[in-house]
Amino acid sequence: MKALITGVNGFVGRHLEQFLLSNGYEVWGSSRSSHDVKADLLNRVQLEFNNVEKLTSTINELKPDLIFHLAAQSSVKKSWDDVEFTMKSNVINSTKLFEAILHSEIAGSCKVLSVGSSEEYGILPQESMPINEGSFLNPINPYGISKVSQYMLTKLYAKLGLHIVHVRPFNHIGPGQELGFVVSDFSNQIAKIEAKKISPIMNVGNLSAKRDFLDVRDIIRAYADVIISGIPGEVYNICSSEPVAISDILNTLVSFSTQNIEVNIDPKLLRVVDIPQYVGDNSKIRSLIDWQPKISLEDTLRDTLEYWRNEGN
Ligand code: GDD
Repeated sequence: MKALITGVNGFVGRHLEQFLLSNGYEVWGSSRSSHDVKADLLNRVQLEFNNVEKLTSTINELKPDLIFHLAAQSSVKKSWDDVEFTMKSNVINSTKLFEAILHSEIAGSCKVLSVGSSEEYGILPQESMPINEGSFLNPINPYGISKVSQYMLTKLYAKLGLHIVHVRPFNHIGPGQELGFVVSDFSNQIAKIEAKKISPIMNVGNLSAKRDFLDVRDIIRAYADVIISGIPGEVYNICSSEPVAISDILNTLVSFSTQNIEVNIDPKLLRVVDIPQYVGDNSKIRSLIDWQPKISLEDTLRDTLEYWRNEGN
């Protein structure tokens, strides 16, 4: 089975590539960066998102059985800083990719996974928790709006004949995640404290929020199955269905360290709009595929902290 991953060098793409390779897939990846240091070791392909004809001919040459469309501008914060780039990356480039696949020789055989986000739901009242796929879409930032648009595109292209499914993963965490996300931010500071690079004070934001966390390695296992079994035009939440308070994340990470760590709530880290609780309903995907999260939150947190300790902070 030949798979193409767009955005292969991102946090999720790197994990997905390794998972598919270790399961015997032939994997090709594309990434935004023109200088790709992994190009000599792994299969890489240049996707020209500006040009549908070139995209179509690249797809015709490669003929993947599966296309995992991960490439995106995926930071909520950056989506405010650069709305146009976010819309171009997530909406325009997705349209071009879907258009190219539709006009390719593999339109009838290739299966496509479109990666959305729980940010598509935006702010919902407490009584809407856990959020299921039929819940109201109320995105509150450009990123969420771009992913709702991408979702609408998948419905359109499914009607036009593509075998395409959309997924809405909730908060991903795990080793390799960049800074700017709560678990990496906390782990990075603990690793720096342990290495005596900073004083033993952690700066944190809102600790009362609750999120639905999944280890990235559990998420990509779901991707590999849902792309095969998902019904074209359908959308599937990928989540644990367990709300966890950020204060619990902090306490668990701190408990893994032998240091005495003081916690400082930094007003700069508090957001103007912060969703108080986000928890998903995973019953739809669990009735489609034989999947459930395997990696405990504790193991994910331990692995992420270990990753930051080894990053040479
Ligand atoms: N990043 C960060 N850093 N968040 C903190 C910190 C900190 O030091 N301290 C507290 N928080 C709180 C945030 O205010 C938020 O309530 C929660 O921790 C989670 O923050 P993030 O990890 O930044 O995730 P997010 O929920 O805002 O958004 C992420 O999840 C979405 C899926 O639901 C992003 O990955 C989105 O791209 C994704 O779509």
